[in-house]
Amino acid sequence: MAVPASAPESVAPTALAVESDPDLPRPATLEDVPGWFPPTDHRFFCWLLEYQRERAIQGDLLEVGVYLGRSAILLGSHLREGETFTVCDLFESEAPDSANSAEMDYSYRETLTRRAFEANYLSFHDALPRIHQGPSQELAETELIAPDSQRFIHIDASHLYQHVAADLAFARKALREDGILVMDDYRSEHTPGVAAATWEAVLTQGLRPVALTPQKFYATWGDPEPVRQALIEHCRERSPRLPELQVLYGEPIPRLWASALLPQEQLRSRWFEQQQAEQEAREQAERAARRRIQARARRLAIDLTPPLAARALRRLRARARDRAQAQQDSRP
Ligand SMILES: C[S@@+](CC[C@H](N)C(=O)[O-])C[C@H]1O[C@@H](n2cnc3c(N)ncnc32)[C@H](O)[C@@H]1O
Repeated sequence: MAVPASAPESVAPTALAVESDPDLPRPATLEDVPGWFPPTDHRFFCWLLEYQRERAIQGDLLEVGVYLGRSAILLGSHLREGETFTVCDLFESEAPDSANSAEMDYSYRETLTRRAFEANYLSFHDALPRIHQGPSQELAETELIAPDSQRFIHIDASHLYQHVAADLAFARKALREDGILVMDDYRSEHTPGVAAATWEAVLTQGLRPVALTPQKFYATWGDPEPVRQALIEHCRERSPRLPELQVLYGEPIPRLWASALLPQEQLRSRWFEQQQAEQEAREQAERAARRRIQARARRLAIDLTPPLAARALRRLRARARDRAQAQQDSRP
């Protein structure tokens, strides 16, 4: 049974509660948070969210499928005053059907808990996003997300066709006209349901591609031209041969890889400095231990060398005496 969504004001556990539980994860940087969020998409999320900020495109953020929070943490860092970030995930709740349940058992059950997501998120932010724990289809049954309210939606939950098609139908209502939709895993051989639902939305529901990366499909139900043009110019500043344009249904769609986009600094958590200091202390202790071992070895060598050398000298002298004696004995 699905656990009801947290009310917006129920942002507990706080960062303080996480601090007092040593079993919860304490990532130092975003790279320490397990997940599926490649550098190309990290860079492109930052570019798109910055593009929206520069043009004062205001609206809420939604991520469907957070796992342990890798992409959610990044999205949360682009949340602006007056906006709401909502996330939806099954976490420990039951999946709505056996195929989804099999997907959960295979990929996420062993490692995923809502507490771990929250601990990771609170390592980077002071408050949690609004969390809906349960199947993504429930979002359409609640009033959490108002129509035309979202400026950025990332769909990265179930890979099964019927769920993805439902997520897309929901996103179509929730996304602002100038908002960006991101579909994860739109082209993997193990996720044909995502591919089918995504291209169906393009062919029959007016979804228009903005750009493609190896893992994610970026699109809008509005006019993709301004954002595409700005993206093309950004890539050309990095190299005149970039980006590669794939023409599809008469539209030029930039295909991106990491070097086409500006690198981004890894986000640092509240634990970063403490962990750096602990690492430095560990390295110092190792260096001191190595120095102690070397000093002990040197002392040992000093203690051992004189008797050994004396013995070798004695042997050399004895051999020389024997040779001299042998020469004398052999004289006529
Ligand atoms: C690929 S992971 C998300 C990865 C994450 N965005 C990241 O950057 O690392 C997919 C997530 O979707 C969740 N999920 C699977 N089926 C779902 C469903 N029907 N409704 C809501 N969440 C679901 C899983 O629990 C899992 O956490």
